[in-house]
Amino acid sequence: MSQHKEVKRITTNTLQQMKAKGEKIAMLTAYDYSMATVLDDAGLDVLLVGDSASNVMAGHETTLPITLEQMIYHAQSVVKAAKKALVLVDLPFGSYQGNSRAALNSAIRMMKESGAHGIKLEGGIEIMESIERIISAGIPVMGHLGLTPQSINKFGTYTVRAKNEAEAQRLKHDAMALQQVGCFALLLEKIPAELGKEVSESLHIPTIGIGAGMHCDGQVLVINDMIGLTKGFRPRFLRPYLDLYNGIFNAAQLYIKDVKTGDFPNEKEQY
Ligand code: KIV
Repeated sequence: MSQHKEVKRITTNTLQQMKAKGEKIAMLTAYDYSMATVLDDAGLDVLLVGDSASNVMAGHETTLPITLEQMIYHAQSVVKAAKKALVLVDLPFGSYQGNSRAALNSAIRMMKESGAHGIKLEGGIEIMESIERIISAGIPVMGHLGLTPQSINKFGTYTVRAKNEAEAQRLKHDAMALQQVGCFALLLEKIPAELGKEVSESLHIPTIGIGAGMHCDGQVLVINDMIGLTKGFRPRFLRPYLDLYNGIFNAAQLYIKDVKTGDFPNEKEQY
């Protein structure tokens, strides 16, 4: 008899049920097999292969340069590791804006080549045609409103969004439209907590917040920030659970010392 324990995969339906039960959704980003293995074993509900890979993996200043091929590569590694978590992937800048046919092709390529379970797109009304087309092909879509880093050149700053009434109204309108078109969830980035609460309560689909307050149905952080690996990045919304930058720095210095002094390897560490 097989000792293998069946693991039940989290689906978009599971997230919907979690919202209905008032159970919070825990999501983190992941970009590679080793990290995704740890996070899936730890019990994350959702792993997001974020285009923040452009910043934390590739060292770019913005999320704009990362390509569809590079996102597919990261997603393939995370999908291999995730036995239980739902794996979502960002479609990168330039792969879906302005042309709904191109958007559908990008989404299909991502789903076919990476094996991910759904995608995330930044924007509201302006990308509705693309979202509608992708959803009609049977691909689950998470919306993303508030701070949308792919539009950084339009706004010029990463400050809190929708602080004034006009912007807040637009965001609420976009959120409702994304739900109506069939998005299964909505990510809210860097908006006032009160607006996060209002949007979360007005929608039947789950909201996932990053800097959007305690009333969202779930939370997400960039893994490198959450484990304290991103040097000098400490925004107010971030709770670092480790200080891995200094942990690795100190380990690397010890290793250098041991190699230089001939202490490593010792008799037991050789053949
Ligand atoms: O790319 C990313 O990491 C994101 C964050 C908002 C989680 O989209």
